[in-house]
Amino acid sequence: MRGIILAGGTGSRLHPATLAINKQLLPIYDKPMIYYPMAVLMMAGITEILIISSPEYIDNYRRLFEDGSEIGIEISYAVQPAPEGLAQAFLIGADFLGDQPAALILGDNIFHGSGFIELLASARRRKSGATVFAYQVRDPSAYGVVELDAAGMAVSIEEKPREPKSDLAVTGLYFYDNRVVELARRVTPSARGELEITDLNRMYMELGELHVEQMGRGYAWLDTGTHESLIEAGEFVRVVQNRTGMQIASLEEIAFQQGFINVAQLRKRGELFAKTEYGRSLLALADKHSGLKR
Ligand code: DAU
Repeated sequence: MRGIILAGGTGSRLHPATLAINKQLLPIYDKPMIYYPMAVLMMAGITEILIISSPEYIDNYRRLFEDGSEIGIEISYAVQPAPEGLAQAFLIGADFLGDQPAALILGDNIFHGSGFIELLASARRRKSGATVFAYQVRDPSAYGVVELDAAGMAVSIEEKPREPKSDLAVTGLYFYDNRVVELARRVTPSARGELEITDLNRMYMELGELHVEQMGRGYAWLDTGTHESLIEAGEFVRVVQNRTGMQIASLEEIAFQQGFINVAQLRKRGELFAKTEYGRSLLALADKHSGLKR
């Protein structure tokens, strides 16, 4: 399975903060926003990842991650000339995906919760169909909304409905089998001129192959769409990290746990960031695994 992070868009709801920088590079407390979705794909065990962003900003991501080898993965880059919709990721990423199944995550989605690695593993194991994750929200009309029957099967899925049929938002994390490119090619632009991911998901629903996993109370799914929600997400990360002493979305820590990098590589990265809590936590982990005490 290969992964795609979609990190383009205009960020216009965050102007003027995003006039000269891409939204997904803004910090969420102590790390760039894109670290959080990157962490999710890595926790799913995915090591081949394509970052898609707009022509102006793609080189910033190249500077940030280079070829990915420092964190034990392979990162490639592609441009989305204009934000013409989330499903376009599969047209841009067609060659990258080849005949592989795919995971797509939006560069501005932040997830945190216990049992997440198992949830990801079970979505990844599914051989056929699509998997989306539903999360109860107070204002579903701002999102894709899925309605389930008593057996938990999707009966409708709508993009930003004025009158939502449920309070279950579809989060920005999607797993698809290898038919996704072919199906994405059949999506036509919506009234707002975008290739909607919701239309792609509806195709899977109509095939009877849209699996919906519910993320319950144990999960946080955070929005970063407005100035208010951006600072709330940062505050959430700050509070949890300070309280527990554990990092959220530490890419090197995940890479080490997943066996993508060894203890020497972990230590090298820790030394690079030694002036920060992020770096110190990597050094402490490296020490622990070398039998040293810090
Ligand atoms: O966050 C989950 C929601 O994401 C889903 O519930 C919706 O079904 C889905 O359509 C999407 O809704 P948004 O209103 O959040 O989509 P937005 O247009 O804001 O795009 C989400 C992110 O993807 C944003 O950071 C910009 C980026 N993007 C967006 C488009 C349309 C791209 O990189 N390229 C694009 O073409």
